[in-house]
Amino acid sequence: MTLTRTTSKGSPESAPRAPKLHVVTFGCQMNKYDSLLAEGRFKRQGYATTEDMGDADVVLFNTCSVREHAEERTFSWLGELKRAKEKNPGLVIGVMGCMAQRIGEEIFARAGHVDLVAGTRQFANLPQLVDRVREAREKRGGADKGTRVLALEMNDAVAVDRDDEPWDGGLHAYLTVMRGCDLNCTYCIVPAVRGRVLSYGIDKLVHEAEWFVSRGAKVITLLGQTVNSYGEDCAPPLPGEARGRGRQGRPSLADLIYRLQDVRGLERIRLITLHPSYVTEALAEALRDCSKAERYLPIPAQSGSDAILRAMKRGYTTDLYKKRMEILRSRVPDLELASDWIAGFCGETDADHAASEALMAEQGFVTNYIFKYDPRPTTHAAEHLTDDVPEDVKKERNQRLLALAERVGLERHGRHVGSVRDVFVESVSDRTEGGLVGRTQHGLMTSFRGAPELVGTVARVQIEGATAFGLSASLATSAPTC
Ligand code: SAH
Ligand code: SF4
Ligand code: F3S
Repeated sequence: MTLTRTTSKGSPESAPRAPKLHVVTFGCQMNKYDSLLAEGRFKRQGYATTEDMGDADVVLFNTCSVREHAEERTFSWLGELKRAKEKNPGLVIGVMGCMAQRIGEEIFARAGHVDLVAGTRQFANLPQLVDRVREAREKRGGADKGTRVLALEMNDAVAVDRDDEPWDGGLHAYLTVMRGCDLNCTYCIVPAVRGRVLSYGIDKLVHEAEWFVSRGAKVITLLGQTVNSYGEDCAPPLPGEARGRGRQGRPSLADLIYRLQDVRGLERIRLITLHPSYVTEALAEALRDCSKAERYLPIPAQSGSDAILRAMKRGYTTDLYKKRMEILRSRVPDLELASDWIAGFCGETDADHAASEALMAEQGFVTNYIFKYDPRPTTHAAEHLTDDVPEDVKKERNQRLLALAERVGLERHGRHVGSVRDVFVESVSDRTEGGLVGRTQHGLMTSFRGAPELVGTVARVQIEGATAFGLSASLATSAPTC
């Protein structure tokens, strides 16, 4: 795209101006990573990114479908752009990600000013798809005609290129180690919109991590919907090839953690999200052996009732869940766990709900994410089970879980008070002047006073206070307590 720019002397000069991209991201960390990937692809085509949506030539919405609310929010944002498009008919508006994959063409029907709809495995093609919108407009003789492009194919090869640089240049980088999900929890839309599991090669992931670290990243979050099933879809090694710690010698998350432990300059390895079914001794040992791996694991239980877990097809009972956590805690006694919970799933009785509360309290999850059940079209639960818990009961159970989560979170955080911890300092506080914010090795947010130069380093602190959501501390000189 070529625009005319005016020089400082005021004479017009025909010079290329980099077209500008603005990406709005909804949903989970996987979407955040994909947005960075998309930005990388556009930058390689000569685009610049802009923080200001009003200044953009291309606005992309990377969308989420997990609950209806997420989709409605996207549509209300899209509505806001209608006027912008009227003012600037050259603007290209694209919708990508999970909602795009789920409802495709329906987006054009509900938001007529959208030009492009691209599914979850199309991010590599986005610049070309935007070009197609522009070419079609030119052919039709005017930008205001608007020409729609729909690309929903679920490519199996979703190669990520080093040059994409899916990283914002900060201290933290995401690394998607696998895409998709092969489980079929009955309430969940993710497998339908993200497709089957595809793990990236372990060498490639390690190289990518090294690349981020060589440029300044110090914390890496390994991402996958069931991140501890990493490698399950890889071919077992041939005779003579290196064997991993996974099934039949396949590479596993444990192998990846050991490899990343050896990356010099990397301080922390974070994991999102684990599934109880793929907790292994090898993983527990890797967490024990590797000091860079955070002692904080999000392993959603979803419910504490066996009947509900069966209806959800989660693949474990509460007993099995507890046994798996025991495997982890026997190797890493100070482990902190986080969980997601669904309140008011189909058929959930008061007793089932009470069982969720009991599991939350017993396991002592430091962080809990609680959602009211929302039937998602095409899922097994929406089509074959009855959404029979009345809305006010769902709401009440949701509130009760939230209230308990706060008590449990406070108790867990409180256990750290009085200890000395090493905190990786992430940023200066935007709330307290002279304050810093970081995380303990247990993944707990910690605020304390200190010099801004400490950002990006590990600071030793004395934990002095706790809330349900974090810790407060002061700089310390003594050795850390475990
Ligand atoms: N892969 C992760 C979760 C991905 S979705 C796992 O298996 O745990 C994130 C969370 O959204 C889920 O853990 C679940 O608690 C919630 N969720 C998913 N579908 C939902 C639905 N239909 N209604 C309410 N909450 C839902
Ligand atoms: Fe959804 Fe279950 Fe897969 Fe998680 S494991 S993404 S909840 S189907
Ligand atoms: Fe939402 Fe898609 Fe993530 S549905 S939670 S953005 S995988």
